[in-house]
Amino acid sequence: NRKTVAVLPGDGIGPEVLDAALPVIETLGLPVDLEFGDIGWEYWRTEGNPVPDRTWDLIGRSDAVLLGATTSKPRREALAELAPELRASAPQYISPIIQLRQRLDLFANLRPVENYLGGGTPYRFCVVRENTEGLYAGLDWNHVPDEMWPLVADHPNVRRSGRQGATASVRLQTSHGLDRILRFAFETARGHGHERVTLADKPNVLRHSSAYVLERLEAIAADYPEIPFEVLNVDAVALWMARRPERFGVIVAENMFGDILSDLGGGVMGGLGLAPSANIGETGNYFEPVHGSAPAMAGHGRANPAAAFLTIGLLLEHLGFEHEARGVRDAVRHVTRRRDRVTYDLGGGATTTEAAQAVMDACRAV
Ligand code: NAI
Ligand code: MG
Repeated sequence: NRKTVAVLPGDGIGPEVLDAALPVIETLGLPVDLEFGDIGWEYWRTEGNPVPDRTWDLIGRSDAVLLGATTSKPRREALAELAPELRASAPQYISPIIQLRQRLDLFANLRPVENYLGGGTPYRFCVVRENTEGLYAGLDWNHVPDEMWPLVADHPNVRRSGRQGATASVRLQTSHGLDRILRFAFETARGHGHERVTLADKPNVLRHSSAYVLERLEAIAADYPEIPFEVLNVDAVALWMARRPERFGVIVAENMFGDILSDLGGGVMGGLGLAPSANIGETGNYFEPVHGSAPAMAGHGRANPAAAFLTIGLLLEHLGFEHEARGVRDAVRHVTRRRDRVTYDLGGGATTTEAAQAVMDACRAV
């Protein structure tokens, strides 16, 4: 019962951290076949498509997708290197990760947060962000659409600013979108052994839309009687994440609230060098470190591979290799807590490969 993993290294430090961390799969002796695929800016530059058809085929026949990092928005330096006719079409470059999320309908973004650095209270929670609707549904205008004008014309600030000086965005929520993300949150709590589900919303300001979310939450929660749930204001969740992260289990939130809270989670756990993520849909998925391609750092061998290791851990867990996934997490924790053979961002002097080797050694030991 072998599994196939599509590995898409991508741009910048993406290939560096995956090269360093992927050997752990062999170290663990898992029945996993890695198949490498093309993605990113390079393929847009040479083929006009950052996600070539052959990559979609590979994704289609894989059990899971592991992504390094890709360019979401090309840098000025990258644009300057292009032939003029290419440069003119660069605005049409669509971020590969947006393409994956949309085409595979990856509605859930999962960000586990854990105290890998040690010191202070142990904590372990995760942020589940809805990825397809909410305030990022794409209903966003640089003006107020005609249909909406009667609804806003009387707002005192609109009266002072005039029609030219007003914009509008809509927070869209649907029973389909809500039910699947809330169910995912409870499944994650059950699967990862978290004690409760916290909905981060804004019921005292967005009264009606939040009341509907609560209605759906209560309906879904009925299927998970052993898991308590609560609703907190998103700002309070931010405060408590910084002050008492150990009080949380699964935090679930709509797209924008979840976007902000998931980056806060990365900050709580000690930065981009450590934060893993998963994007999950009904049938597809991809796993990636939270960090981007860090072009200024690429080629110097300084990137922290820990986020890539933890991402591989998440992927292994998804494939059902829970024991090995725990082994990878334990190894990263062991190395980061001792601050021995860690990269610059954790206060060490190790290169990407040296830091990865330390994790691999610890993996053999545990
Ligand atoms: P970034 O995450 O690439 O880098 C931000 C900062 O964090 C840099 O100072 C970098 O030195 C540091 N950093 C990142 N990863 C690190 C690691 N593994 N070890 C140590 N330090 C690390 O974000 P930035 O610079 O805003 O974006 C660069 C490119 O990546 C852009 O094209 C952006 O659109 C893209 N991006 C892609 C993402 C993805 O693939 N999901 C996510 C975020 C950005
Ligand atoms: Mg973000």
